[in-house]
Amino acid sequence: MKSIILIAAPAAGKGTLATFLKNKYNMPHISTGDLLRDAASKDDFRGREIKELITNGKFVSDEVVLELLKLRIENEDCSNGYILDGFPRNVSQAKSYDEILKELNKNIGIVIVLDIDKEIAKSRISGRLSCPKCFKVYNTSNPSMKPIKDGLCDNCNIELNRRLDDNPETYDERYNTYLEKTEPLISYYDKKGIVYHVDGSLTPEETFDQVVKILGE
Ligand code: AP5
Ligand code: MG
Repeated sequence: MKSIILIAAPAAGKGTLATFLKNKYNMPHISTGDLLRDAASKDDFRGREIKELITNGKFVSDEVVLELLKLRIENEDCSNGYILDGFPRNVSQAKSYDEILKELNKNIGIVIVLDIDKEIAKSRISGRLSCPKCFKVYNTSNPSMKPIKDGLCDNCNIELNRRLDDNPETYDERYNTYLEKTEPLISYYDKKGIVYHVDGSLTPEETFDQVVKILGE
């Protein structure tokens, strides 16, 4: 299976789509946001620094992100492809990623862009809860996305968290950064002929079906 890079605005549904893909194709889901939130949960200098940046909707340095990413994709479970969610996030990360792929003798795969209006994506932050252990994402505003037991992860049975960056002000900051730094990646990858667009404003199942059609399986 080809690796998949997911590009979309904050809260567009990258993590949710990646979970569907992971379950169908048995590919690891690599979210740099989850890797960084995990690093931020440690009470050391690096953890505190990362937490401060994420809470304010700022990017973590390319250096830190690339180190975490490279370590993760070198893992044996990534040898047959993986799903990247939240990486690359700017053109400089994309160029470094090209170099890493060359070094590891891996193919880039394809890029899926989830197209969605800002207001629809923003509305999805209000009910979001996530598991600090397995990172599964829920939404209490949507009956089909609620946890089985109120406030508890279906998989881990532990308390779900609300993300520190899920408030309207930080969302606007994250969204503006997306337009300025991340959206230019679409034309970067378009030049390689590997970009596919899907409508991200539909239900998770409908969004997933569009991707399955693109993958042709
Ligand atoms: P990251 O965790 O990647 O956040 P993001 O890009 O802002 O995206 P989200 O995780 O908020 O949304 P999502 O698209 O995954 O949506 P989800 O599926 O949860 O990054 C966080 C921070 O980490 C960044 O701001 C930055 O500071 C740092 N960072 C990360 N990567 C970095 C990098 N490479 N370089 C530098 N810094 C980096 O869905 C959202 C909600 O909607 C959920 O509640 C879900 O249940 C619901 N939902 C999903 N799909 C649907 C649907 N189709 N219909 C209705 N509801 C839906
Ligand atoms: Mg996510």
